[in-house]
Amino acid sequence: MELKFVSAQRARFTIIFVCAKEFNHDFVSDRELLDLVGFDGSDETAALFAERKEIYVGVEDICDPESFRIAAAKAVSVLKGLKIEEAHIDNYDRGGAAISEAIAIGFLLGAYEFSMYKSTPKPAALKTIHFGPKNYFGEKTDEKGVKRALKKAKLLADSVNFARDLINKTPDDMTPAILADAAMEIAGKYGLEGKIYDAQYLKSSGMGAFLAVSRASKNAPRLIHLVYKPSHPKKTVAIIGKGLTYDSGGLSLKPADYMCTMKADMAGAAAVIAIVKAAAELRLPVEIHAIAGAAENMIGGDAYKPDDVLTAMNGKTIEVKNTDAEGRLVLADCIAFAQKNTQNLDCILDIATLTGACVVALGEHTSGVMGFNAGLKASLLKAADESGELAAELPFNRHLKKLIKSEIADVANASSTRYGGAITAGLFLSEFIEEKNRDKWAHLDIAGPGYVEKGWGVNPSGASGAAVRWLVRWLESL
Ligand code: BES
Ligand code: ZN
Ligand code: ZN
Repeated sequence: MELKFVSAQRARFTIIFVCAKEFNHDFVSDRELLDLVGFDGSDETAALFAERKEIYVGVEDICDPESFRIAAAKAVSVLKGLKIEEAHIDNYDRGGAAISEAIAIGFLLGAYEFSMYKSTPKPAALKTIHFGPKNYFGEKTDEKGVKRALKKAKLLADSVNFARDLINKTPDDMTPAILADAAMEIAGKYGLEGKIYDAQYLKSSGMGAFLAVSRASKNAPRLIHLVYKPSHPKKTVAIIGKGLTYDSGGLSLKPADYMCTMKADMAGAAAVIAIVKAAAELRLPVEIHAIAGAAENMIGGDAYKPDDVLTAMNGKTIEVKNTDAEGRLVLADCIAFAQKNTQNLDCILDIATLTGACVVALGEHTSGVMGFNAGLKASLLKAADESGELAAELPFNRHLKKLIKSEIADVANASSTRYGGAITAGLFLSEFIEEKNRDKWAHLDIAGPGYVEKGWGVNPSGASGAAVRWLVRWLESL
């Protein structure tokens, strides 16, 4: 779908946003009609008047960009089912074009469809939405600002939708090798340094934890390392993604219901590739090392087992208590790799669909943020809010740390109780952060929002592309 600034209204179909709080104002011209159909302008509601060629969509709060993103996504989700090819919208900014950017991104994310596996895909008729020269109050809009906002929204949405496409593919169509090829394609397109490491390299580097997870699969693992190097970087960051192209749980096999959607266990890896792509397109002045550990967690005669003791790249030994806690094993080696193979890091972030416990703690819409540095965590929470993603801190404490002690190895990969599982997973990862880097690191658990079973906000069902908008905003803030 295309978004265009137009100097006069051309499309006959109009999208009109109405704020719940201002519903009784005089400028809501069709109040009686809207009253009649019971439309009050609240969140995620719409009233379609086909014969008048108008759709009204609710905006919960006129000062909140997220209300506009959600309203725009709602509008396209209704229009998708109709035969309308072009629609028009006025702007809702009074000075600045922040709301126009929010509306644009809502349209582009809400319009996303993944139809690769449909034998007869039915593409939506809607091709273009025109942003008009006036705002809703009849004032002339800031043309340059709106044009810039549309361009930025397109760039961001393309990156989010790129991540969604990678995640939505079936595990057989998105193996570690295929993911690595996709990463190299991005490297080629944007002039990034790209390196792919295979099982042989993992073995010779002593990445015993990563290797063990991948061992039972016919699809061999890959470690992906992309580098975006602007000429005068203000900061250098490593962003590490969990890339389980399938997580069956391994010998600690998942129950049937829980296994569905585990193709999305590579959402962290997809996010880091999409983030570095967006950063390169935006020419952000930050050197970025995007690192992803891609593997498939399967069962078989050669599978790793509960009771195994693994040795990670940094020499630490890990008692395997549960083979379904595999993401932290892959990340342990990727975190060690990042610290060994990059220089002058200012920040180390990891992004992972790491624990069901995080979803229990925060709900399906919110990511968990963990780490030792309050300032870094605060900057991440702020960026999440500005980007339209939800995130909340899960605090470490000394008592939870005891739960991953092992009798026979340095650390255990699963906690001895069923409480606080998102935090004990974060504490496990912290064991692989070198002392000098403690305050540079934060862990983002996207298990909740990574994959959407029933659409919400700007996300149709399927992969959401979580963390892409969030971390691009964060990188911009550095
Ligand atoms: N990939 C899962 C976590 C997950 C669950 C992501 C639900 C998205 C939605 C992870 O590998 C896992 O299975 N974690 C276990 C850890 C446990 C065995 C300590 C979990 O959360 O149950
Ligand atoms: Zn698992
Ligand atoms: Zn997993």
